[in-house]
Amino acid sequence: MKILSIETSCDETGITILNVTGSENNPVFEVLANNLYSQIKIHAQYGGVYPALAKREHIKNLPILLEKTLKKLKLEKSKKPIDMIAVTSGPGLEPALWTGIVFAKELSKKWNVPVVPVNHMEGHVLSVFAKNGKFKIPKIKFPALSLLVSGGHTELVLVKDWMKYKKIGETCDDASGEAFDKVARMLSLPYPGGPQVSKLSALGRKIKSISEITLPRPMMYSKNYDFSFSGLKTSVLYLIQKIGSLDEKTKIEIAREFEDSVVDVLTHKTIKAIQEHKIKTLIVAGGVSANTQLKKILKKKIKENNLKIEVLFPNKKLSTDNAIMISLVGYFRRKNKKTNIKANGGLSF
Ligand code: KG4
Ligand code: ZN
Repeated sequence: MKILSIETSCDETGITILNVTGSENNPVFEVLANNLYSQIKIHAQYGGVYPALAKREHIKNLPILLEKTLKKLKLEKSKKPIDMIAVTSGPGLEPALWTGIVFAKELSKKWNVPVVPVNHMEGHVLSVFAKNGKFKIPKIKFPALSLLVSGGHTELVLVKDWMKYKKIGETCDDASGEAFDKVARMLSLPYPGGPQVSKLSALGRKIKSISEITLPRPMMYSKNYDFSFSGLKTSVLYLIQKIGSLDEKTKIEIAREFEDSVVDVLTHKTIKAIQEHKIKTLIVAGGVSANTQLKKILKKKIKENNLKIEVLFPNKKLSTDNAIMISLVGYFRRKNKKTNIKANGGLSF
């Protein structure tokens, strides 16, 4: 079967066609076309995603991406080129989500094919198995734990079995990626700030200079699995105000200490959850999972604590938003066809 998937939850417009062959118990996936249009440049001037602009851009780009996708596969728009549509219904920016949903509904009527709504966060969980090509999903051991870290979310989710999720902790305020983006702005770095802060901090790690800059590790030792990154961001702001004008060396030191703080807190709680819930597989996903330091420290702590678990990260290109992960969830949720899909900005596990 061929699945067309649509992703418009934030600032990436994505359309993918996934072909599924093989048997029910041993499906083989192949991404036949994957078109992604990033609006980063448009939002960069505002230092973050501007919802009304995101909506306008999705509306403009969806038909263009569809055309490109069908053309690549020599499929005709007038005939029924696919068997099913999967569309992100939440969480995300509602005006942006609606553009994808309305587009999916129009195509569904035109081609007489069903539409399946997809939870974007489940997409990130499955993104660790996805490839922009041919792939199978390997057997993993349960229970698994998913650390989901993105621009809008930071949560720890227990995966008892496929499609059986239970959120055990989340951020009380800002998401970790959001904190990276806000600190980047304070350091006059462009949006999205995560990779920029990370690059700067890597310079600091090379120099190995002794820094006097220290930042808090918010909620690191709290008894639950919740996080808080808003106070950390404010600490950076006060620190910058106190220092006055920032030279390059101080910027590097702030970036490094900030990254250390986020990584310390995320790692500490993840290790605690692995131990308490006797986790056998760790899935780290979402935009911040591309952070090299997070990957390095998590693996180091897993080793130090003698935890015998498998650790899965997505391919770097699939760590941020894409439509491949949406098509994969669409396949597993294919029985959940809906005609009255609504955008749900706060959709949760
Ligand atoms: O998953 P994603 O593409 O979008 C959401 O669903 O939010 O994540 C984007 C977030 C941004 O906040 C970005 O700054 C962050 O992921 N990010 C990173 C890195 N690469 C992307 N944060 C830290 N280090 C990185 N290398
Ligand atoms: Zn995302």
